[in-house]
Amino acid sequence: MDRTLMIIKPDAVAKHVIGEILRLVEAEGFVVRQLRMTHLTREQAEAFYAVHRERSFFGELVGFMTSGAVVPMALERVDAVPHLRQFIGATDSTKAAPGTIRREFGTDVQCNAVHASDSAENAANEIEFFFGKNT
Ligand code: RTP
Ligand code: MG
Repeated sequence: MDRTLMIIKPDAVAKHVIGEILRLVEAEGFVVRQLRMTHLTREQAEAFYAVHRERSFFGELVGFMTSGAVVPMALERVDAVPHLRQFIGATDSTKAAPGTIRREFGTDVQCNAVHASDSAENAANEIEFFFGKNT
């Protein structure tokens, strides 16, 4: 079994679809191992998305991710990282495939409902970011 990190982003929390997203993720075979609600500080959001620091959308991304509460969770499943990326769909919600989380609950390229780790190494680091070592 592998683990990955998913975050329900502020747009989806504000739409009151935490439960619907969790239901779909669990029905897809993911087991929730850790979960909490938090409101990221600017410093935390900048650190979490540090890889995008030089991108034109970085300021907007940090503003969005600190605009409301988020729900990070550690999920376990066979092939967790690639399977979740496939299941959430493309970054731009308007281009995500039908049936994906982002197509169903996201709005555009920024307000796209959820984050998912993009590699096993990043998954481990991101789970530690929210839940500490030894999770
Ligand atoms: P994530 O890291 O949140 O799972 O998203 P991702 O891998 O699909 O996409 P990434 O390139 O890592 O972008 C991170 C987040 O930044 C926002 N974004 N805005 N305005 C824009 O052009 C733009 N591009 C990306 C999105 O919220 C995206 O999920
Ligand atoms: Mg990414």
